[in-house]
Amino acid sequence: MSDKILIVGAGGREHALAWHCAQMPGRTVYVAPGNAGTAREPGVENVAIDSSDLDGLVAFAERTGIDLTIVGPEQPLVAGIVDRFTAAGLACFGPSAAAAALEGSKVFSKEFMVRHRIPTAQHASFEALEPALAYLETVALPVVVKASGLAAGKGVVIATRREQACQAAAAMLRDAAFGEAGRHIVVEEFLQGEEASFIALVDGTDILPLASSQDHKARDEGDRGPNTGGMGAYSPAPVVTPAVHARIMREVMLPTARGLAAEGLRYRGFLYAGVMIDPAGAPRVLEFNCRFGDPEAQVVLPRLASDLPALCRAALAGELAAAEARWRPEPALGVVMAAAGYPAQTRRGDAIEGLAADLPETLVFHAGTRLAGDRIVTAGGRVLCVTGLGPTLREARDRAYARVDRIGWEGAFCRRDIGHRALARED
Ligand code: AMP
Ligand code: GLY
Repeated sequence: MSDKILIVGAGGREHALAWHCAQMPGRTVYVAPGNAGTAREPGVENVAIDSSDLDGLVAFAERTGIDLTIVGPEQPLVAGIVDRFTAAGLACFGPSAAAAALEGSKVFSKEFMVRHRIPTAQHASFEALEPALAYLETVALPVVVKASGLAAGKGVVIATRREQACQAAAAMLRDAAFGEAGRHIVVEEFLQGEEASFIALVDGTDILPLASSQDHKARDEGDRGPNTGGMGAYSPAPVVTPAVHARIMREVMLPTARGLAAEGLRYRGFLYAGVMIDPAGAPRVLEFNCRFGDPEAQVVLPRLASDLPALCRAALAGELAAAEARWRPEPALGVVMAAAGYPAQTRRGDAIEGLAADLPETLVFHAGTRLAGDRIVTAGGRVLCVTGLGPTLREARDRAYARVDRIGWEGAFCRRDIGHRALARED
């Protein structure tokens, strides 16, 4: 049988997916559109089709005889890529557009959780500013204001002052700071605890959990500053003890999979629950994503000893109950290197130096990079994710930062404290 895989997307997660898939001999991996890292990866080829060009992607998959497509980012899922591929008789791993609303609409997602008694923060949603402002006068602080639609992890404001919450609501509802995505907002109770990313494969009935992970969403050290798409991650997340794992499965993942099926929503893909775990070990859902995490993929996939495409095929066949994922025991830690200005607009086109320096047990996944002749230049906010593996998380971290320190460009920055919570537990 031919073994041709298409990865849709252009970021670090997609580089990690392509790198992992290409470990299988005899397989060809295509990435649409990919980046400079996937262009240089052995066994991987970039295809110049944007991830929003669903017609182009279907035509390419048909013409090339792709037997499995794995979708990285949320936008094509919400736009219906799985529905389009499925209608053309092509295997495509991900939820339908209707089911992807679990990520695409925070209003839908919160109402879904209420319907299925999935633990989450108390919330109210608004389309008009006046009632939102009136409500914000009554809530306890801090309070969380979220754009309902897709905002690349940036449409969330944790307000410690009432005025700040009102400004966020006004920016979204009156000034359209997030365009369509901010036409509805969710105002939510602030949850205390420690966050973890719980990512699983779902086949409509059964759930195969992947290794746990934790990312750092805030830009600055000490988990301060604006929210980003993620500044670094590590796996496993020690906060997800076996008891917490069992609770997340029982209280979050199973009712979610059952709720989706009961509502007639087709879901054969990654299901990512961002959960807040309180000091008693009780999980509450912060958000659902309908895809792998980024940068979680860059630390989870290097630990996966099983073949992900085989697991995706089992899920598409509804046979996850019999599937098993094997893991390397070594922890992994990934540090995102970003361009000056991120998460706001960043300059592009700076030459990246030091990529050739290899160090054992490290991997460099590209995100916002592009080939310019024979140089690799920056082409986005999050530029690279440098992952280290080691017998302990501390060694994984030291390896990752040793490699980070060899790489640079004008204005590059990263957080130096990735993994601080787990390291404090390790000590
Ligand atoms: P979201 O995109 O909804 O996951 O929000 C982005 C980040 O904001 C989360 O990963 C949390 O770090 C933080 N956050 C979101 N909602 C809450 C909440 N209700 N309580 C505390 N922190 C939150
Ligand atoms: N790292 C967070 C996300 O992928 O949404």
